Amino acid sequence: MATIIIDGRKTSLEIRAEVAARAALLKQETGIVPGLAVILIGDDPASHSYVKSKEKACRETGFYSVTDRLPASTQQQELIALVRKYNGDVRIHGILVQMPLPRHLDEQKVIETILPEKDVDGFHPVNVGKLMIGLDALVPCTPAGIIELLKRWSIQTSGKHVVVVGRSNIVGKPIAALLIQKQPWANAVVTVVHTGAPDISLYTKQADILIAAIGKPRAITADMVKPGCVVIDVGMNRIHDSTTPSGNRMVGDVDFDAVAPLTSAITPVPGGVGLMTIALLLQNTLKAAIESTKRS
Ligand code: GUN
Repeated sequence: MATIIIDGRKTSLEIRAEVAARAALLKQETGIVPGLAVILIGDDPASHSYVKSKEKACRETGFYSVTDRLPASTQQQELIALVRKYNGDVRIHGILVQMPLPRHLDEQKVIETILPEKDVDGFHPVNVGKLMIGLDALVPCTPAGIIELLKRWSIQTSGKHVVVVGRSNIVGKPIAALLIQKQPWANAVVTVVHTGAPDISLYTKQADILIAAIGKPRAITADMVKPGCVVIDVGMNRIHDSTTPSGNRMVGDVDFDAVAPLTSAITPVPGGVGLMTIALLLQNTLKAAIESTKRS
């Protein structure tokens, strides 16, 4: 069976074009330009690189965006005050605080300070709760991006066994919550495996759709998958590679070269899920901007 390489670049560009067109219409009809505030604390190179991509995407989509780059020494109260400032700023419809934060800062407190209607990451307990019980919510961008990929690449989920590897609040838990809903492009039987399992391969081998959100380079090997399965690789791991100009290279959580030939469809890294996350951030910001017009 030929393997379909799920092209996240192509799909993310489609979504970005749709969002840009809808944003232009919103501006025409209401004068509102979707606005995103991004707060980045510290010097983590990966976080700086993601935030740059988010700023560029906002510019290209015609959004208003502001970014605060603050030192790692920033105190909790300063950060909370900044979030509150954006909560009260009518030009800002979405607030994103890039994670992880330096260890002295309380991530959960910061998340809970963001107004749920401006929480374009979908991390606030109000949005997490709404997602869990199937209400309309701002949904975390990476899981929402995975659902869009499945939909737009016609990968059926209803009645399928989806195995999610990883239980993070950003990916593992919300993708499981989305896929168990009795809704189109969900209705799956979901197993979540994590570091508590003595042998994750017992579970991964049973997956019709395997979602790897582990954070370990090439952790899913060929012996861990069922032939014909679909593999969604959420990993973004920078590894040393002296043959590249930067001296490093991005690889996923899946050993792509060995696993891809066994699958019916697979997302590459880079060029898969990562680009979808940014597209869905734009979509969430647009959604928050549209919702704001219904409140005022
Ligand atoms: N760090 C890694 N992924 C994400 C994300 O989706 N949102 C935020 N705010 N931080 C992240």
